[in-house]
Amino acid sequence: MLLHLPAILHAEELSTAHAQLQQAPWQDGRDSAGGQAASVKNNTQLPRDCPAARSIRSLVLAALDRSALFFSAALPKQVFPPHVNRYAGEANHYGPHVDNAIRLLPDAGLRMRTDLSATLFLSDPDSYDGGALRIGQAPDAPRVKLPAGDLVLYDGTSVHEVEPVTRGERLACFFWVQSLVRDAAQRQILFDMDMALLDLRQRDGESPEAVRLTGCYHNLLRLWAEP
Ligand code: NI
Repeated sequence: MLLHLPAILHAEELSTAHAQLQQAPWQDGRDSAGGQAASVKNNTQLPRDCPAARSIRSLVLAALDRSALFFSAALPKQVFPPHVNRYAGEANHYGPHVDNAIRLLPDAGLRMRTDLSATLFLSDPDSYDGGALRIGQAPDAPRVKLPAGDLVLYDGTSVHEVEPVTRGERLACFFWVQSLVRDAAQRQILFDMDMALLDLRQRDGESPEAVRLTGCYHNLLRLWAEP
C-alpha cells in the first residue's frame, strides 16, 4: 500500500504545531533508530517528553481519530505515538533502511509490530528543496513530497529513504501502525471493498446489494482480524 491522505491536519492545527516548534530543543535523531537504520540516519528529532512533542503528538492522534480514510486503510490496532523530526543544514537526510519490525511503546512497556509506516508532512513543500520520501529501491520508485498537513501511509516492510534537504527545513511527524489485519494483501482487499461500497452508496443510495456486500466486508474482517 502507498496511500496519500490529504489534509489530516487543518490549517489552524498546523499553525499551532509550527508555533510549538519555534524554540524546539532538537536532538540527534539516531536515538530512535535500530542498528542498520542508525548508521544511515542523519536528522534531528524532538525529545519525546518536551512540551512541543507532547502537544503535536496529541494534535496528530486526535486528527487520526477523526479520519475515516485512515481507519479504513490502516485498520489500526495500535498507533505508535508520533515523533517529530527535522531535516535541515548538515542533518538533512536518512539513507535507505527498513524500519524496525517491533517497537517498544513508550510509557506502556508493551511491544507493537510495525505493519505500516506513516509520515505526516508539516512543512510547505515550496519552503524546502529535496527531502522527498523515496519508497522502494527501483529506479522509478515513488518519491513522495506532500503539502503540509497531508499524510502518506506505506508498508512497513518497504526499504525507504529521505533524500537530502538542500534548502530550508523539512519538518514532519512519523509513526507506525500495528493493524488488526496483519497481511497487507488482505488489508488492501478490505480497503478496496470499503471504498467501492462508499462509491456505490454515493451513486445509488442504500440497496439490498450494498447491504449484502457490507456483510461480506465485515465477515472477511471477522476472518482476518486479530483484535
Ligand atoms: Ni524509516
